[in-house]
Amino acid sequence: MAIREIVKYPAPILKQKCKEVVKFDQKLAMLLDDMYETMVAADGVGLAAPQIGEAVRVAIVDMGEGQEVIEMVNPVVTAIGGSEVEVEGCLSFPGLYGEVERPFFVRIEAQERDGSLYELEAEDYEARAILHEIDHLNGVLFDSKIIRVVDPSEFEEVDEESIETEQKEGEHQ
Ligand code: CO
Repeated sequence: MAIREIVKYPAPILKQKCKEVVKFDQKLAMLLDDMYETMVAADGVGLAAPQIGEAVRVAIVDMGEGQEVIEMVNPVVTAIGGSEVEVEGCLSFPGLYGEVERPFFVRIEAQERDGSLYELEAEDYEARAILHEIDHLNGVLFDSKIIRVVDPSEFEEVDEESIETEQKEGEHQ
């Protein structure tokens, strides 16, 4: 495993539509392991393969709190529902935070690292993180969806009760 360099905007690879994974081999396993290590080192909640320079349809999301890491290979959104506006960030855009509207609910179909198919339903912040990462695989970046840029100092101005939530919302993906 290795910590890889995170590709920053405006690197062209971030705007590419990524390629389907067809080989479920050791190279894919290593990519997923590198992505996880890189995401943890950068204190992110999600990472897509193009963010470490690989234009393939692979992304991960880690909601923390003892939850298993979600590994998505060739993910496809099969249903969405509701809508919610929350603050997002992205490891490829250091220092940029903004309000983005996304579905509250998502259902996806994806493959595990061994190629087996699975279905997953998620809500709220988890759904947001999953959709943010799948956007990356289509070359869609969150800055194009920001409806209001949020200064990081705004996180500190909120009352004590909501600080924890605000900080979570401001985490990178
Ligand atoms: Co991102």
